[in-house]
Amino acid sequence: MMYLIENAYAKINLSIDIVSRMDSGYHNMRMVMQSIALHDEITVACGPGEGIHVVTDLRYLPNDERNIASRAAAVFFEYTGFTGYRVDIDVKKNIPVCAGLGGGSTDGAAVLRALNTLLETKLDRKTLERLAEKVGSDVAFCIAGGTSLAEGRGEILTGLEPLPDCRIVICKPAFAISTPELFSRINCDKIHLRPDTNGIIEALEKRNLPAVARRMYNVFEDVLPKGSGAVGEIKQRLMEHDALGAVMTGTGSAVFGLFSSSEDALNAYEDLKSTYQECYMTEVIKRIDLG
Ligand code: C5P
Repeated sequence: MMYLIENAYAKINLSIDIVSRMDSGYHNMRMVMQSIALHDEITVACGPGEGIHVVTDLRYLPNDERNIASRAAAVFFEYTGFTGYRVDIDVKKNIPVCAGLGGGSTDGAAVLRALNTLLETKLDRKTLERLAEKVGSDVAFCIAGGTSLAEGRGEILTGLEPLPDCRIVICKPAFAISTPELFSRINCDKIHLRPDTNGIIEALEKRNLPAVARRMYNVFEDVLPKGSGAVGEIKQRLMEHDALGAVMTGTGSAVFGLFSSSEDALNAYEDLKSTYQECYMTEVIKRIDLG
């Protein structure tokens, strides 16, 4: 049995805009995504036998084909046509679940990268991304990570200049927000406030961290269900500690702030930690090695 350990990096959304609703029910997005150092650890072992077997260190996560890591392996074997292999996937979660940090998507992407290396299939980045989009909308970005403009369902990727080095403080309130429910609350004709996506792209090109941070915006913040007040409260507390900008990531419920000062970041982290259990301090990841 051969095996490989892959780091599955989380993502944050520097911005999220929704352009339109597709006939399929999915939405046409325009968002700037950034990989961060916070990561799950995925061990993929492969040898003669059959079946895809997943274990995780979180009791409440499914171990069957509902687990995105399992679906990614199934998509890989369907595409390559390989048979006679048993795959064991061990997922060690560090990324909070239902947070908008791409925890499931990045696990799926890590399984695709690992199988590509273990079975020496030498699928290129584009092919892996096409397989990834069958697994979930954000999985394609998580294949090579870094910094990208993501359009369409999230699978049309354009590489951008990386977010300049900074401290990132993340805080997830105890409640989760359902992604399909949040999408259903959006009326594309009634989005009044949108992020300045082109402004963010220009600021990234100029490596101007404050200019990126003050343009960050997520259209989902306008349609949060009742009881999500902690999102605004966390943003406010991050800003009180001199974050350059703070915004909800994905469909939440996690919120992050960007800091140029490590001292401010640490103060914000410690302050939030006194109220919320799930707080993290992390940094930018510029690119993920495809092996
Ligand atoms: O593709 P994924 O399984 O991650 O999507 C989860 C849900 O999010 C979908 O069922 C859909 O309700 C919503 N979604 C959407 N438009 C997107 C991505 C996701 O409406 N571009």
